[in-house]
Amino acid sequence: MLTKRPRGTNDFLPQDTEKWHWMEDIIKKLCIDYGYGEIRMPTFEHTELFARGVGETTDIVEKEMYTFLDKGERSVTLRPEGTASVVRAFLENKVFSKAQPTKYYYIGPMYRYDRPQAGRYRQFHQFGVEAFGSSDAALDAEVIKLAVDLLNRIGLDKLALHVNSVGCPECRKVHKEKLNDYLSNRLDELCTTCQKRYEKNPLRIFDCKSSVCQEIISDAPSITSCLCKECREHFDKVCEILNLLKINYIIDENLVRGLDYYTRTTFEIIVEGIGAQSAICGGGRYDKLVEQCGGPDTPGIGFAMGLERLLMTLDLHGINIKTSWRKKIFVAYVDNKAKLEAVRTVNIIRKNNISADMDYMGRSLKAQLKYANKIDATHTMILGEEELKKGVVTVKDMEQGSQEEILIDNIINYLTLL
Ligand code: HAM
Repeated sequence: MLTKRPRGTNDFLPQDTEKWHWMEDIIKKLCIDYGYGEIRMPTFEHTELFARGVGETTDIVEKEMYTFLDKGERSVTLRPEGTASVVRAFLENKVFSKAQPTKYYYIGPMYRYDRPQAGRYRQFHQFGVEAFGSSDAALDAEVIKLAVDLLNRIGLDKLALHVNSVGCPECRKVHKEKLNDYLSNRLDELCTTCQKRYEKNPLRIFDCKSSVCQEIISDAPSITSCLCKECREHFDKVCEILNLLKINYIIDENLVRGLDYYTRTTFEIIVEGIGAQSAICGGGRYDKLVEQCGGPDTPGIGFAMGLERLLMTLDLHGINIKTSWRKKIFVAYVDNKAKLEAVRTVNIIRKNNISADMDYMGRSLKAQLKYANKIDATHTMILGEEELKKGVVTVKDMEQGSQEEILIDNIINYLTLL
């Protein structure tokens, strides 16, 4: 156990984190372009926040939360998602009293106790955005466009964007009545969980994995067919703006999403080729959530993307990650006298914001040159007896194979001109 990480978690070593940095840089730049500021929340919260915020009848709250009592006997939960925490922070910091809308983004780990498989982990990372204070359909379109733009910027274009509207509490009432009619003779055929769901939140039945429930629900009236006039108009407007922005989408009446807080617009982005866990991004509107958490009536909309799934997709689609080219200097030395000069040289280079390293393993000069190759040094500086006598270093361009002598005092000038 001592050398085995918990199931469903990952280690990311430098060759992996380089990709994460690349992706996070693109995310940050895009969010600035769209006017979203970064928010950082705690990775655990009072359990009640998720029970109330995400919803008692969701799989997340029913089965997947990492909940425990802390030493003060308080029930806390590792966050299974970000939206509830952002809402809590929006309320606690009274951001609702400032000029709206409020537009936030976050990147960080989330925790769900689910059965691990490719693309599904117990600790995973999400990039998410949440925008509060406006129910304007143009904001729905902006949030969707941001998600699509990000995927395009990192080189993914084979995407399927599914959109739907799950209406407001008024539409839900009508839907429940229609469902009641439809299910009246078959209610006791549903699994016990769905019988409870039927009472509390019948939309959840559409997500049930049991084949009997699936069969029963497949011909049931959809929530979308029960939209009130305002919700229908709102959804039409969202679609109109998506058309204007030339975003391709599929209207998917079965897209109800697995969290209880959604109202009106819901959406998901699906990619091909990553197996069962093909949803790379999911989101929607939650116009009642802020109020439900004890705040003023404030609409909201957002999405979250699974970053492990995103990187997996890039690999599978053969998309090259363009990490920025950076000079990386390795200073090799021939003996202990030259070693002191190497220590000095490495530090001068670093002081000038250029990456530099040297040997600490007692390698021979030949082995140091081999090692420089292994760590992808762009240039190796060699300090041999001759060089020390002349006050120079021999600089080898590792890609071209060419080499030249440079005065030690001139190293920085030389490197900055490269
Ligand atoms: P979600 O659909 O539960 O929504 O998760 C969003 C994304 O997180 C998924 O599409 C998937 O890419 C990734 N994800 C979820 N669970 C896992 C897992 N176990 N392993 C790896 N990746 C996973 C939410 O979390 C909502 N908070 C989204 C939202 C924000 N809605 C409005 N605002």
